[in-house]
Amino acid sequence: MNRKVSVIGSGNVGATTARSIADKELADVVLLDILEGVPQGKGLDLLEACPIEGSDARVLGTNDYADTAGSAVVVITAGLARKPGMSRDDLLQKNAGIIKAVTTEVVTHSPDCIIIPVTNPLDAMCQVVYRESGFPRERVVGMAGVLDSARMRTFIAEALSVSVENTHAFVLGGHGDTMVPLPRYSTVAGIPITELLDTATIDAIVTRTANGGAEIVKLLGSGSAYYAPGSAVVQMVEAILKDKKKILPCAVFLQGEYGIRDLFVGVPVKLGAGGAEQIIEIRLEADEQAALDRSAASVKELVSALGL
Ligand code: APR
Repeated sequence: MNRKVSVIGSGNVGATTARSIADKELADVVLLDILEGVPQGKGLDLLEACPIEGSDARVLGTNDYADTAGSAVVVITAGLARKPGMSRDDLLQKNAGIIKAVTTEVVTHSPDCIIIPVTNPLDAMCQVVYRESGFPRERVVGMAGVLDSARMRTFIAEALSVSVENTHAFVLGGHGDTMVPLPRYSTVAGIPITELLDTATIDAIVTRTANGGAEIVKLLGSGSAYYAPGSAVVQMVEAILKDKKKILPCAVFLQGEYGIRDLFVGVPVKLGAGGAEQIIEIRLEADEQAALDRSAASVKELVSALGL
């Protein structure tokens, strides 16, 4: 194939993302990690799945950024997981250091790529990538909202016993427990869920969505979600590579939209070959705007702790 997507970090999210891109034959895939042998082993394993999947995508595992050269899209999943005894701030500083170093290499080898940061804390890591890359804001698009709204869609479909395909969910804000699921704009076959579900059920769905990541962490015991995050990344990659101009919730650098300036926050964007080609602004009720402002303030706190 003549398109390349590089995935930095060959852990759970990175490998799951690489697998889905190869299975769907969207592009050749380069899987890079600092661990020696791991990306090579996973890359070869994925390549050997391709004959069965009927995919001619080439998959390469590597430690060398030269192999990522000329990527159309680069997905960054590299980072550390929070370990016992490590404060949230420690993790923030450590992951920021990793993301900074990764971004420098990515930009050197793929100066025209679109970067999709995935590493948490997502919105703050997007800010690091944006500052370090010097890219226009259209080309740094964080993955969070697609995952959060997929979780909300799952719960809506369950509550109404309808196909997930009929569901649409709308989640704004930072990727964390301050995220803002918007029931008024969440629909089933075009009908707002506020017409279909009682307030208590909607409140339960909203709360479960906001705690969706933590629910999985608790169940797994160690590590965090990766199947749904991988699927979410690949939906974004596909929208970009196929220039679908799909409206998806993503973390983008706001410059006045929704009353927020110079900060990455999740909002609906049009994703196409140019990256985040347009930010879609919708009218919010006062309580919704207040919730979004609170969410933005919590992102701002992390960004300020990084001195950005
Ligand atoms: N360069 C490249 N890879 C790195 C670097 C680095 N400087 N530092 C760490 N890594 C790699 C690790 O070696 C590991 O293989 O990043 C990978 C992270 O994988 P996992 O620990 O399995 O984490 P994963 O579950 O994939 O999550 C990755 O995505 O959803 C977020 O919160 C999640 O921030 C986390 C990220």
